[in-house]
Amino acid sequence: MASYKNIVVLTGAGISAESGVSTFRDSGGLWEKHRIEDVATPDAFRRDPERVQNFYNLRRAQLSAVEPHAAHFALGRLEKELEGRVTVVTQNVDNLHERGGSTNIIHMHGELAKVRCQTCHQVFEWLEDCTQETSCPACGQSPALRPHIVWFGEMPFEMDRIESLLYECDLFVSVGTSGNVYPAAGFVAAVRSHGMAHTIEVNLEPSEGVSYFAETRHGKAGELLPELVEELLTLRKK
Ligand code: APR
Repeated sequence: MASYKNIVVLTGAGISAESGVSTFRDSGGLWEKHRIEDVATPDAFRRDPERVQNFYNLRRAQLSAVEPHAAHFALGRLEKELEGRVTVVTQNVDNLHERGGSTNIIHMHGELAKVRCQTCHQVFEWLEDCTQETSCPACGQSPALRPHIVWFGEMPFEMDRIESLLYECDLFVSVGTSGNVYPAAGFVAAVRSHGMAHTIEVNLEPSEGVSYFAETRHGKAGELLPELVEELLTLRKK
């Protein structure tokens, strides 16, 4: 491996699993307990906003009960110590990357710890419950607030910036994602079609997109990612 200057790390639910946050598609995952069309689409919110708010209120409340682990801290360390740029592009809506020391993060599927007003479009940091009775702190409207989450059928955030990053990176690492949900599932193919970047999958088991990766490391993110980060930082010193 050469020394890398521009690293993009795509993360999914698997990186938070060892912190105690449920994944979506593993056995016992969130989509086994809830139907996507009941809680994670714009239609679901129109039909039954209280149910959707409750689903996200429960998940938001879990944030204070979980802690980042070795994989999150390893990425924080990589950003701090690499002589170059490290960007975490996460599909996760938890705040464990921030709490693990990463600062250059794109939350492409939104953030549990934020809500936004559908009337004045402002986004607010939000750790409390949110209901249809809660008024917008800026414009005073209610009901107006919704979870700052990208639902199925909506456009992920910051796709233009992500596309540029995929184009420019010299290393793309995917961690803890099953490769089922686009556009993130297509990032590795996009990186490879652009040129010479190295690509590594770190996942408990081979993902749907495993054949696109030049290198694969299968096992727990909490064990494999600190090792990988150590290797990447050692290359810098050679
Ligand atoms: N270390 C590494 N990988 C793990 C670990 C672990 N400790 N535990 C589980 N995994 C892997 C699983 O093997 C699985 O391949 O993480 C992956 C999690 O996959 P999903 O549950 O499908 O989660 P994700 O890929 O993030 O889902 C993408 O789908 O429902 C939407 O919006 C939701 O952002 C989410 C998107």
